[in-house]
Amino acid sequence: MERCSVLGVWLLLLILMVEGSSSSKVTGSGKYNSLRRNLLTNGLGMTPPMGWNSWNHFWCGINENIIKDSADALVSTGLHKLGYTYVNIDDCWAEIARDEKGNLVPKNSTFPSGIKALADYVHSKGLKLGIYSDAGYFTCSGTMPGSLGHEEQDAKTFASWGIDYLKYDNCNEDGTKPTIRYPVMTRALMKAGRPIFFSLCEWGDMHPALWGGKVGNSWRTTSDIYDNWESMVSRADINEVYAEFARPGGWNDPDMLEVGNGGMTKDEYIAHFSIWAISKAPLLLGCDVRNMSEDTMEIVANKEVIAINQDPLGVQAKKVRMKGDLEVWAGPLTGYRVAVLLFNRGPSRSAISAYWDDIGIPANSLVQARDVWEHKTLNREFVGNLTATVDSHACKMYILKPIS
Ligand SMILES: *[C@@H]1O[C@H](CO)[C@@H](O)[C@H](O)[C@H]1NC(C)=O
Ligand SMILES: *[C@@H]1O[C@H](CO)[C@@H](O)[C@H](O)[C@H]1NC(C)=O
Ligand SMILES: *[C@@H]1O[C@H](CO)[C@@H](O)[C@H](O)[C@H]1NC(C)=O
Repeated sequence: MERCSVLGVWLLLLILMVEGSSSSKVTGSGKYNSLRRNLLTNGLGMTPPMGWNSWNHFWCGINENIIKDSADALVSTGLHKLGYTYVNIDDCWAEIARDEKGNLVPKNSTFPSGIKALADYVHSKGLKLGIYSDAGYFTCSGTMPGSLGHEEQDAKTFASWGIDYLKYDNCNEDGTKPTIRYPVMTRALMKAGRPIFFSLCEWGDMHPALWGGKVGNSWRTTSDIYDNWESMVSRADINEVYAEFARPGGWNDPDMLEVGNGGMTKDEYIAHFSIWAISKAPLLLGCDVRNMSEDTMEIVANKEVIAINQDPLGVQAKKVRMKGDLEVWAGPLTGYRVAVLLFNRGPSRSAISAYWDDIGIPANSLVQARDVWEHKTLNREFVGNLTATVDSHACKMYILKPIS
C-alpha cells in the first residue's frame, strides 16, 4: 500500500513539474506565477529549526506553567545549548471568541498571564516562543479561532507579543486552495515588523514542496505523525520524495518528533531521530521535556547527529539504494563529507552495504568512517563500500570522509 502511494506521489510530482516548466517557458505567466516571487524574506531557517512543541505529548492539555516549565527544562538539561531554542505552543491556547476589536484572546483559564508575558519569560531564558494558528475559521481542535480573514491583524498581534515562530494549520477552511490561503499570511507576517519563522502545516495535500519555498520556512509534507513505527516510517518515506526541494531557508517537514513518548523501542527512536536528522527535518521535540528518561536524553542530545542535521550545506539525504527492507540513505555535508544511514526496516538482523557509486564518493577513494551513535572513528579505512550488520527496526549512521 505504502509503495503504491509513494509511486502515486512521484507521478503527480512529475506531471506538476512538466506542467510548471512548460507554462513558464511558453508564457511566463503560469498559474504559479504569483508565487514565483519570493514572498518571504525573513532570513530565518538557514538550518532546520530546533526546539520543542506541545502537541505530541500534551495535545490540548496545555497551560502557561507547562510552557514555562518546558522552557526551564530545555535550559536545565542543556538542550538549549545544543540548538533546541524554539518553545512552540500548539493548538488550544486561545478563547473561542475574539474580543470586541477582533483580536485573539489568550485563554483565561490556562494562560491567565497572557502570551506577551510568556514570550518575555521565554526570551529571558535565551529561548524563542512559537505559536499556532490556522488558515481557516477555526483551528483543528475547534476550540479557538483560525486566522482566515484576520491574517494582518493576527500577524500584528503575534509580532506585538514577541512571537518568533508560527505553525499554521489547515483545518476548517473555506474551500479555497492552500496556494491562495497561505501566502496571505506570508504577506501579513512580512508586514508585521518582526521576523517570524513561518511553518506551513498544509499536510502535503497540494504538494507544498513545489510552492512552499516562496511562502514559508518549512512545509509539512505529510499528515500528522503518531507514536508508532508504521506512522514514523511512512512519514519518512513520503518526505523523502521531495528531498530536492529542501534548502537553507525552506525545509520539508515530516512532522514533529515522537522520541520519548513511549510508543517505540529505543532502536526505533534512534532510527526516527537519525532519519529526521539526515533528512534535514525540523528537530522539534514532542515529548515531556520536564521528565525525559536517560535513553531519551541520550538520543536527542547526540551532538554528532544534530551536527548532521544542522550542517550549513543544507542538503536533504535521499534513499540511494533499497533491497527489500534494507535501505541506504545518503546526503552530502560540508567538507566533501557524506552522511550515510544504513536502515533495516525488516524483521531480521541483516548486513547492509553503502557503495561509493551510490553515495557520491569517487570509486577509488580511501574513506574514514565515523559512527555517530557509537561515537567512534572506525579503526580501518574503507574503499568501495562500507558494510555493517544492522538489527531489525534499527539503523547505523556514519559520516564518511574521503582521505585520499
Ligand atoms: C479570568 O479568570 C479568573 C479566575 O481564574 C477570573 O477571576 C477573572 O475574572 C477572569 N478574567 C476574565 C477577563 O474573564
Ligand atoms: C515521568 O515519566 C515516567 C516514565 O518515564 C512516568 O512514569 C511518570 O509518570 C512521569 N512523571 C510525570 C510527572 O509525568
Ligand atoms: C566491500 O569492499 C571490500 C574491499 O574494501 C571487499 O572485500 C568486499 O567484498 C566489499 N563488500 C561488498 C558487499 O561489496
